[in-house]
Amino acid sequence: MEREGTKRQPLHTAEVKHWDAFLFLVRIFRFLLIILGLYKKGQKNALALETVHHQQKFKNLPAAFEKTRILHLSDLHIDGMPELLKILKKQLREIGPVDFCVFTGDYGVSPLKSEDPNHPMVSDMKEILECIDSTHPPIGILGNHDSAHTVSLFNELGIKMLVNQKLQFEKDGEVLQFVGTDDVHYFYGPQSLKCLEHCQEHFTVGLIHSPELFDFAAEAGVDFYLAGHTHGGQIRFFNRPLITHLDRGKQYSAGNWKYRQMKGHTSVGVGTSGIPVRYGVNPQILVHQLIREES
Ligand SMILES: [Fe+2]
Repeated sequence: MEREGTKRQPLHTAEVKHWDAFLFLVRIFRFLLIILGLYKKGQKNALALETVHHQQKFKNLPAAFEKTRILHLSDLHIDGMPELLKILKKQLREIGPVDFCVFTGDYGVSPLKSEDPNHPMVSDMKEILECIDSTHPPIGILGNHDSAHTVSLFNELGIKMLVNQKLQFEKDGEVLQFVGTDDVHYFYGPQSLKCLEHCQEHFTVGLIHSPELFDFAAEAGVDFYLAGHTHGGQIRFFNRPLITHLDRGKQYSAGNWKYRQMKGHTSVGVGTSGIPVRYGVNPQILVHQLIREES
C-alpha cells in the first residue's frame, strides 16, 4: 500500500485525503499567524511539554499487574521541532522507573525513505531510549507518518515493533497482553482487525495509532485502547479541536474516554506536524498507572 500510494481508512475502500492540498492550506495559515503576531506564542506553547499522570481503573486487571506503570509517548515528530528533543529527554529522565514504555506512532514528520541506520531520526530515538528506565523493552507501532522501514530500524534499537501482532507478558501465572496494529488512518487493512481477535482471553492493552478502531477494538475485547494521531487538534478554539484528522471516532480525539466496557486514552502528543505551533493544547508525556477497581 505504501509503495503504491494507496491510502485506505476503516470502512472506506477509495483513496482518502490529499496531503498536498492540506499542506497548501497550512502554509496560508502559517502566514496569517505571522501577520497576526501569534506565531512565536504558538512555538512557545509547542515546547511547553508536561508529564501527566493518570490512574486507569479496571475491574478485570490481573492482580499480578496491579499498579503497573505504562509510559505512553505518541507523535514525537522529532524532526518537526529540533528544540523539543532536549526538553523531552530531560523530562523522561525525571519520570523514573516504569514497567512498560509504549510509542503509538508518528516518530517523525517525514517518513524514513530507506533503512539507513545513520538517519538522524534513528540517532534521536536512540537518545530518547537512553532516557527511559523501563523494566520491559519498549513497544512501538507505526503511525501514518511512518514508513515500513521504521520497523526493522527500530527493532534494531531494541523497540519491539508490533505490526498487527500481539505480545504477552506473564507474571505470577497471569498475563498482560499488548496488541499493536499497523496504522489504520492511511494504511488500514483487514489484518488489523484480524490481529485483534481473541483479545478477550487476556487483559489487553491495544496500541493503535488513531482512535478510529474504537468500536472494533471494544467488540474484540480490548480493555485499554491507547492512541495518538490527533495532537488534540494541535490548535483548539474554545477548547474544541480545529482539525482532528479522524474519519470516525471524532469524539475520542483527546484524553481519557470510554466506549462500552473499554477504556481509552488518545494522547495529544509530544510533537507537532504541519506548523510547529500549538494553541489551547500543550504537548504531553503520559504515565498511565493500572489499578484494580473493586467491584
Ligand atoms: Fe502525528
